[in-house]
Amino acid sequence: MAAKTMSRKLLTQGAEGRVYIGKWLRHSVVFKERFPKQYRHPDLDAQITRERLKAEARTLTRCRMVGIRTPVVYDVDFNKNMIIMEKIEGSVTVRNYIYDAVNQKLSMENQNLMSLAERIGKVLSKLHANNIIHGDLTTSNMLLLAPYEYSEIVLIDFGLSSISEATEDKAVDLYVLERAILSTHPHTEKFVSHILSIYKTQGGDAASEVIKRLDEVRYRGRKKLCFG
Ligand SMILES: Nc1ncnc2c1ncn2[C@@H]1O[C@H](COP(=O)(O)OP(=O)(O)OP(=O)(O)O)[C@@H](O)[C@H]1O
Ligand SMILES: [Mg+2]
Repeated sequence: MAAKTMSRKLLTQGAEGRVYIGKWLRHSVVFKERFPKQYRHPDLDAQITRERLKAEARTLTRCRMVGIRTPVVYDVDFNKNMIIMEKIEGSVTVRNYIYDAVNQKLSMENQNLMSLAERIGKVLSKLHANNIIHGDLTTSNMLLLAPYEYSEIVLIDFGLSSISEATEDKAVDLYVLERAILSTHPHTEKFVSHILSIYKTQGGDAASEVIKRLDEVRYRGRKKLCFG
């Protein structure tokens, strides 16, 4: 479909690309476009961009096949480095949902926030039980549908995803999320520990191993921070 025939409006501009919303074949869609990185050799850049596009489209679809809510992928355009996917209407990011809760002075032990942590723990447990590694778990990459208090978690932004059975990869995935939450949202230790405890109880022995490994990953992370 020619770019001219697609009406679109810029939603976000990240370091790696832009996200637009608009219409495509009468669907409300998100156009996610990656742009070249000037500091990378053009061949390498083209290869990395292609891999990320493929990873994103594949994993979005793979998640849907195992019952994890993600946007439907409508098209992948390798010439424009763009994915066209379902727009999750009326959604908010978990990041904004937590900001709002903090603005309303809700405690992290508030029932709605504990229920949110539970839903996050469950979806991550399902993701890892299917050997899907997200690669960039943050609260901006999780969406909630109205009514937010009961919504399942919609996962997005799978450009760094991979498939792996390794306990280490799953532990690193959780570590990335833990760091992201604690640095974006102060005083959320209880929220994070609830996510992890639900993840552990849902996922059986394999999940317990991941949580055990997470301790090692944290230790390595701290050592790296201290000694570079
Ligand atoms: N399918 C979608 N439906 C609704 N909103 C979306 C959708 N995809 C992305 N968004 C919104 O656009 C934002 C950026 O999308 P995404 O995370 O995929 O791209 P990104 O380039 O990694 O951005 P960021 O730098 O914020 O991580 C999301 O945080 C979300 O608010
Ligand atoms: Mg993102």
